[in-house]
Amino acid sequence: MSDETAPPYGSGAAAASSTGSAGAPSDAAPVRRVRTQHLRELKQRGERFAMLTAYDMYTAEVFDEAGIEVLLVGDSASNNVLGNETSLPITVEELLPLTRAVSRSTRRSLVVGDLPFGSYQRSAEQAYDTAVRFMKEGGAHAVKLEGGVEMAPQIELLTRGGVPVMAHIGFTPQSEHALGGYRVQGRGETAERVLADARAVEAAGAFAVVMEMVPGDVAAQVTRELAIPTIGIGAGAGCDGQVLVWQDAFGLRGGRMARFVKQYADLRGVLADAARTYADEVRSGAFPTEDHTF
Ligand code: KIV
Repeated sequence: MSDETAPPYGSGAAAASSTGSAGAPSDAAPVRRVRTQHLRELKQRGERFAMLTAYDMYTAEVFDEAGIEVLLVGDSASNNVLGNETSLPITVEELLPLTRAVSRSTRRSLVVGDLPFGSYQRSAEQAYDTAVRFMKEGGAHAVKLEGGVEMAPQIELLTRGGVPVMAHIGFTPQSEHALGGYRVQGRGETAERVLADARAVEAAGAFAVVMEMVPGDVAAQVTRELAIPTIGIGAGAGCDGQVLVWQDAFGLRGGRMARFVKQYADLRGVLADAARTYADEVRSGAFPTEDHTF
């Protein structure tokens, strides 16, 4: 038996090329980074695109290779990675290393860093300083911030200063307490508010807008009106793209799911079975065998 063994971790980052043609990744074609203008071109052609959250190297690699156009290093890492109850407690210092891990581990996906609660609301200047850190230290290609009309100054300054901005309107989790809990936004008369927010973020220069928990007809109207792509989460099929938190979509998180989540896998079950089998084999002596022994 050889003393050599495979390295305990993968190679991580792969160099991105800015040449070549967009489309599904293949071994032969040079990989081309998805850019903000590609999302707009997809919208113009009536083609939908996919966005997922990612917070670490391996999921970033897998989702990138699977052809997910946009990876969001969401502040939802707060309640999906760090064990908090909501997205509010996560800090810039906590989210930056996760952003760096994701950006280092992708070749094709557009990587968007989410600005944490309190790191951009005070002023456009504060937002710019935080966004620059996400791009310089985190390697993000763009940032996301929550808010509509009231965030126009932030979006304008960031955009002028070379930071592509994805806006987030409708239900904005960082304002959970101000909004009185997890509630659909834009029902009935309040639809006008969602439309005003959408128009304001587009006018301010956002390259895309996430709409969370907005009635399907309102989201579809926004999507028709705006030239920039809309990305729905609980906003129906009328959006240009869709986003889900990956632990929800692939079944790593336990407990009750929001109605808008579709579960594509049961990773929690797969991991639990694997962990139980491993523990049984360790206890019984079935692992390790000669094959696993130097
Ligand atoms: O942080 C996040 O995961 C998000 C998505 C739900 C859009 O903002």
